[in-house]
Amino acid sequence: MNFNFFKSVPFEGSYLDKLHEIENACYPDPWSKAMLSDEIGEEYSEIFLYKNDPIGYISGRLYIDEAHILSIAIEPSWQRKGIGRKFLTDWLHKVREDGAERVHLEVRVSNRSAQNLYISLGFELTGKRVNFYDDPPEDALLMTLDFRKNAY
Ligand SMILES: CC(C)(COP(=O)(O)OP(=O)(O)OC[C@H]1O[C@@H](n2cnc3c(N)ncnc32)[C@H](O)[C@@H]1OP(=O)(O)O)[C@@H](O)C(=O)NCCC(=O)NCCS
Repeated sequence: MNFNFFKSVPFEGSYLDKLHEIENACYPDPWSKAMLSDEIGEEYSEIFLYKNDPIGYISGRLYIDEAHILSIAIEPSWQRKGIGRKFLTDWLHKVREDGAERVHLEVRVSNRSAQNLYISLGFELTGKRVNFYDDPPEDALLMTLDFRKNAY
């Protein structure tokens, strides 16, 4: 994949309608538009663009040396082309440079595709949160990337 026409930009109101469509297509329990708009101004949340069109996003936070990924989604027609890996890798480099020692995330037990991506980037299973999700109810696996064990 040639990534010349892809870039990430900060969250902005004009993209929210399209992001909400992507969110609805990607998740059984999608975030509302209001939840997506809360990401505006968050330094570690980014929208992924192909040319000027949103094709996905990541929502994240960095608290001193602990980073947390709240959500990542790629529009279904753009999935499995290496785009999630590319943007997540860029994001990991950024939080690493800004002082993160570890990155945490939760993922549905049934979401093997996302787990495969995280494992391929060095995340390890570090716990389980029972009934973490609604609609449908499901446990979450807690996964952690330790930058002391993985060079970024
Ligand atoms: C998870 C997600 C962000 C991955 O983005 P993507 O652009 O499709 O991922 P990539 O093409 O970069 O794939 C990277 C790796 O992820 C894994 N993967 C991605 N899709 C997969 C699938 N359908 N089945 C199995 N593994 C998959 C593979 O390990 C893949 O590497 P490979 O292609 O070399 O085998 C995307 O599938 C998505 O938006 N899913 C819906 C929302 C979601 O589940 N988000 C994560 C919540 S924790």
